[in-house]
Amino acid sequence: MFIKHQTIERNAILLLVLALVAISIGGLVEIIPLFTIETTVEHVQGVRPYSPLEQAGRDIYVREGCYVCHSQMIRALKDEVERYGHYSLAAESMYDHPFQWGSKRIGPDLARVGGKYSSDWHYAHLKNPQALVPESLMPHYAFMADTALSYDNIGDKLHTLRIVGVPYTDEQIASAKSDLETQANPQADSKALLAHYPKANTVPGNGKQVTELDALVAYLQVLGTEVNFADTSEESLRQ
Ligand code: HEC
Repeated sequence: MFIKHQTIERNAILLLVLALVAISIGGLVEIIPLFTIETTVEHVQGVRPYSPLEQAGRDIYVREGCYVCHSQMIRALKDEVERYGHYSLAAESMYDHPFQWGSKRIGPDLARVGGKYSSDWHYAHLKNPQALVPESLMPHYAFMADTALSYDNIGDKLHTLRIVGVPYTDEQIASAKSDLETQANPQADSKALLAHYPKANTVPGNGKQVTELDALVAYLQVLGTEVNFADTSEESLRQ
């Protein structure tokens, strides 16, 4: 036994090869079972794909690089939970492609900013942050209030997201454009929108055209609001 081991120890190449074999067994035992399950993220009640307007807003969030200053990931640490609310669950970003956890917090975490302020507050804040928070470092995004949202391809966007695993139905894809317009118009009949996307918040809009700001505010207002943590034991969150 020891003699054989001596051979291995004296032959660097053999030692390397055998070490790699030993390590890869450990790796394979951990990795292979993951291929047999559909998802590693446990589904949580209430989490739904973004509505078309929220999704368009999310694309603007990414385009503008909001993640450079804002994270969307509340860690399970006491101070974070006291400041921002329940720590983030993996399921809450399961439909994010790519996710927006971020790694910088020049501004506060936004994972649960939905419902924290009124939509009017967000419009005013995004146009001129210092008007509401004088010491704010955040840049102005007033141009978005005058920029029409480009959403001719919104159905295709949902379709593409479906390819990477977001469960949009054919009906949701077919009505993407009208759902988007409904969410930016408080006067519209929102029955179909709410049937497709429960609890979708309508944003005030300007009555003339859907702007980029409308989409961004709709997105901010849904963040962290899908799971009802009032009714919580960890068990009751699971479906
Ligand atoms: C240069 C860094 C920076 C960038 C870029 C930035 N922000 Fe901010 N943001 C801040 C800071 C600092 C605050 C805290 C002060 C304030 O409320 O304005 C803040 C606050 C906020 C708040 C209020 C959060 C709360 O809980 O009070 C929201 C919402 C927000 N930002 C959204 C955005 C969005 C959307 C974008 C991209 C369009 C963005 N920010 C880009 C720095 C930034």
